[in-house]
Amino acid sequence: MNDYHIPVLLKESIDALQVKNGGIYVDATLGGGGHCEEILKSCKNIKLFAFDRDDDSLRHTSELKKKYPDLTIIKDNFENIRTRLALERIKKVDGILFDLGVSSHQFNKASRGFSFSLESKLDMRMDQSSELTAYEIINNFPYEELKFIFREYGEEKEAGKIAKAIVQKRVAKKIETTLELAEIIEESIFSRQIIKTKARVFQALRIFLNGELDALKTALSDAVKILNPTGRIAVISYHSLEDRLVKKFFIYEEKSCICPPNFPKCVCNKRSTLKIITKRPIVPTKTEIQNNPRARSAKLRIAEKKENS
Ligand SMILES: C[S@@+](CC[C@H](N)C(=O)[O-])C[C@H]1O[C@@H](n2cnc3c(N)ncnc32)[C@H](O)[C@@H]1O
Repeated sequence: MNDYHIPVLLKESIDALQVKNGGIYVDATLGGGGHCEEILKSCKNIKLFAFDRDDDSLRHTSELKKKYPDLTIIKDNFENIRTRLALERIKKVDGILFDLGVSSHQFNKASRGFSFSLESKLDMRMDQSSELTAYEIINNFPYEELKFIFREYGEEKEAGKIAKAIVQKRVAKKIETTLELAEIIEESIFSRQIIKTKARVFQALRIFLNGELDALKTALSDAVKILNPTGRIAVISYHSLEDRLVKKFFIYEEKSCICPPNFPKCVCNKRSTLKIITKRPIVPTKTEIQNNPRARSAKLRIAEKKENS
């Protein structure tokens, strides 16, 4: 059975791309290939380049390649989209979709170490060939850095207490597994919502170790550079850090001037490159959330490349 998740906001995100005959598109986060296949089905004569940095995703979608000859699958971080497309002799595209975060497959496969309720070694790498693992961070990073990671990437108020408990615990014995870490979190603070705390700490480790926000910043700014006029960027995010980043990026790109308001005339030479299509993000319907609880935190933001930018 397909253990990849049911694609989130599927119709909304494919409609957002306004796929047209002869167009070139990018699925920046192939995962189980659900969105990818829907883009390919939506219009026959298109080219699609799909990226993922996870070997499992590539293995899982190898059949798609046989079914759709116009699909090119590339194993890489989406922060390298622009250079990797240039190697394929592609300079401009007509739409880019990001469906961020981890797939259900990654989350539910215990050995990947993403879940605080499944016993596994501390891993959490999206790209299994990268060196840094959660084990390394938890056992070797100093207190201040751990506290920073939990606060910055998990927005965790008790970051200090949790970091202190980890540093104390690892003196006697290395912290090996997800469940050991989850237990230390539970023992370190009093919270009625301990599950949410564990989720925040695990999320923080994942985001930091996979460089998720930096990759997204680079990818968004390169996406604007490679989009043809009227081409679209659609981003589905699952937590506030990502959503805020996307929202602020779109707002900045839409602005035609960033001079301080007291300047008599504009001197910044900023050009507006994007038009925001979704003033408020599109969220899943109640029915979608009932059928697929993973969709509950999803937000879709869409922007369009301006004609003369
Ligand atoms: C939510 S899943 C995508 C699911 C997909 N849309 C589908 O229909 O099955 C996110 C995927 O993006 C990949 N991913 C996350 N960050 C990435 C990055 N910076 N570069 C490349 N792939 C990334 C993950 O490995 C994961 O497979």
